[in-house]
Amino acid sequence: MSRASWGSNIGFMIAAAGSAIGLANVWRFPYIVGHYGGAAFILVYLMFLILIGVPVFIAEVLIGRTAQQSPSGAFETLGKSRIWGSAGKMTILTGFIVSAFYSVVAGWIMGYLFLSLNGTVITMTSTAVAAEYFNSLTSHPWWSLANHALFMLASTAILFFGVRSGIEKGNKIMLPMLFVVLTILLVRGLMMPGAEDAVTFLLHPDWSAITPAALVTALGHSFFTLSLGQGTMVTYGSYISDKNNLVKTCIPPVIMDTVVSLMAAVVVFTIVFGAGHEPNAGPGLIFHTIPTVFTHLPGGQFLAILFFLLVLLAAVTSQISAMEPTIAFFMERFDWSRHKATLICGSSAFLVGVPCALAANVLSDVQIFGMDILDAVSTFASEVLIPLGGFFAVALVGWRWGVPAALGKLLPPDAPRWLKGYFWFCFKFAAPLLIIVVFLDAMGLFR
Ligand code: PHE
Repeated sequence: MSRASWGSNIGFMIAAAGSAIGLANVWRFPYIVGHYGGAAFILVYLMFLILIGVPVFIAEVLIGRTAQQSPSGAFETLGKSRIWGSAGKMTILTGFIVSAFYSVVAGWIMGYLFLSLNGTVITMTSTAVAAEYFNSLTSHPWWSLANHALFMLASTAILFFGVRSGIEKGNKIMLPMLFVVLTILLVRGLMMPGAEDAVTFLLHPDWSAITPAALVTALGHSFFTLSLGQGTMVTYGSYISDKNNLVKTCIPPVIMDTVVSLMAAVVVFTIVFGAGHEPNAGPGLIFHTIPTVFTHLPGGQFLAILFFLLVLLAAVTSQISAMEPTIAFFMERFDWSRHKATLICGSSAFLVGVPCALAANVLSDVQIFGMDILDAVSTFASEVLIPLGGFFAVALVGWRWGVPAALGKLLPPDAPRWLKGYFWFCFKFAAPLLIIVVFLDAMGLFR
């Protein structure tokens, strides 16, 4: 079977941006920015992006493009040992776990899109009412399960069509739609009475909020939002067939991802401040606060539909990218057809997601380190497995494959010296060391 590839470099860029732009940008970024002091957190986050996010992103795509294999084969080939191959397999498993719980949360979004279409969302007059409504929905196992199943089905269907006619085409339709919807909401948000407060909040740094926890969150977020540490970018990179300048190919998706995060933060904060709410409402922001705002706005139902559609589109393009490494692995390792690999991946990710869908109802008594199952799985994946996967990728490039060999594949020979120096420094020292430091800090070692 010959290896699938993107139709063009643009195809990769759009698919990579579609993967990166997801719930993390629209749902998570605004509330963590709200929680950790606005502008200060954004600056720390941008610094991590330059020192860790960009190098790890490029390292992963480079590993995939060079080896033209799934993460398992790619890590094994470049690391020249089975142990490195196991590290690659671990990243695939991480992507699979992410796709299982991601589908549950994305399913809620899908449910809210339905509730916007039938008008229910704009009957929520206060955050207390909205929160109670949300809790009553998630306390029913069937609501979460049905939406989880439906969302997984839609994602599996796209993957069924393969790299070019499924992933690439799906992204080429959904990503522009996402930008249009986001722009409409941004313009509407900036016309709200809270716009000035929101922009001030986002531009005025409160450094006292930058605690060690904020650093760990910023690091974890930069990995999660760029879809790093879980085989996605290695796999997407393995579908790049041409040998063009990879840096130029990788920067646009990272920029698009960052721009969408910032736009989403402005949208959410203008809407939330405009309605006189606090910006730090946490994970419930989208479900507890946003509906009440739409309830009180003229044309609120239309805006609610747009908003949940936006988040749903972002989630679908990310979900397929979290599942694709597993599919690529099944095809490579067991010689399965794409259809068989896709069906098995989709149905097993659905099953693994079931306990997460039941976390707030049937299984609510199950607590792991004081968290319910969904929280525990998502925290473990994003704070342990993902940074570890990113660490393996950059350590492979910096210390095993070797920077000179990697740079030979990454940059043209006449590339500026500062660029070579930047990658040398980041691959070998900045990225791996910062990941270790933040990791140890998360374990409480420096406190
Ligand atoms: N980057 C996606 C987001 O921001 C999440 C994701 C994680 C996608 C892992 C693919 C793989 O929501």
